[in-house]
Amino acid sequence: MFTQALTQGIRDRVLGSPLVNLLTGPHGVDRYTELVEPTWTLGDARAKVVAVRRQTPRSVTLTLEPNRAFAGFKAGQHINLCVEINGRRRTRCYSPASAEGSRYVELTIGRHDGGLVSNYLCDHAYPGMVLGLDSVGGDFVMPDVRPRRILFVSGGSGITPVMSMLRTLQVEGFDGEAAFIHYARRAEEACYRDELDAMPGVRVLHGYTRTTDAADLDGHFGPEHLAAALADWRAEPDAVYVCGPPALVDAVREHCPNAQWESFVPPTFTAPAETSGGTVSFTASGVEVTDDGQPLLLQAEAAGLTPESGCRMGICHSCTRFKTRGAVRNLITGAVSGADAEDIQICITAPVGDVDIDL
Ligand code: FES
Repeated sequence: MFTQALTQGIRDRVLGSPLVNLLTGPHGVDRYTELVEPTWTLGDARAKVVAVRRQTPRSVTLTLEPNRAFAGFKAGQHINLCVEINGRRRTRCYSPASAEGSRYVELTIGRHDGGLVSNYLCDHAYPGMVLGLDSVGGDFVMPDVRPRRILFVSGGSGITPVMSMLRTLQVEGFDGEAAFIHYARRAEEACYRDELDAMPGVRVLHGYTRTTDAADLDGHFGPEHLAAALADWRAEPDAVYVCGPPALVDAVREHCPNAQWESFVPPTFTAPAETSGGTVSFTASGVEVTDDGQPLLLQAEAAGLTPESGCRMGICHSCTRFKTRGAVRNLITGAVSGADAEDIQICITAPVGDVDIDL
């Protein structure tokens, strides 16, 4: 172990030296070392898949060993994962399920209708596969001073950031009150069920939306589920974290207004009809379309272009493009930009009049 760390340290120092940088310019040392071993890169964070597990029929769990360029994540954050599919690099964001600070990153990826990257990984991930770890972000995280009474709620693949938080608390020896309600379609589709059942100090309840077999809870989230989860449910928990489909997030926030939340299902964005009808020029491709009011990402895709995208809801920034002319509306905040050139996230912006996008 010590010898391996020493060897890696010497290797990193040599590869990162100015002389090696000079000799390998202009492409840089990573373009050469990756020919030998794809994860031997100093600048690019990458990870090798070291285990592939299929916990449920509609998901795959990947254990990743990141290289030393990966700076880690906080429990609850997401990682932009890059995978090459048919020669094209695709990026999507996923929240790790592993505890923060662990050597390996665990991702559980659910199958979705039309989910290009998720379905590809469900079908084709294999030990030895190399994936890019593009960036880490998100503020769905616990404070450094952990709350004492915590309620976690998740639905479907929203379980992963909650697992990361729960596993992190376990590693830290958390001794406050923690309850977790997880909703899945049926028991066979509930990931991590055995581990959760054996997790000390956490009250875990399962609800199923397609059956009542083996369920702890009936129906949808509401006061009865709160009462079942918390010893004194009338006293609001110090913190509530919910991750899942929008309907679940809304239901939890109705009863727990201070809940921190994240949703993995991109919302449908629409711009006011009166601002559409201008000309959208994707200048690098020489393509022009008449603005139909949808986000620029959808308009580009409808025109046959394939810009990079990840979360498709304004979180990951992988769709950022340079607007060279015209105003756009942020479809989340409603704010309209000036006409100056600027970077915009095309998944959450729509034109206001004519715009030129460098795409
Ligand atoms: S695709 Fe993630 S911010 Fe646009």
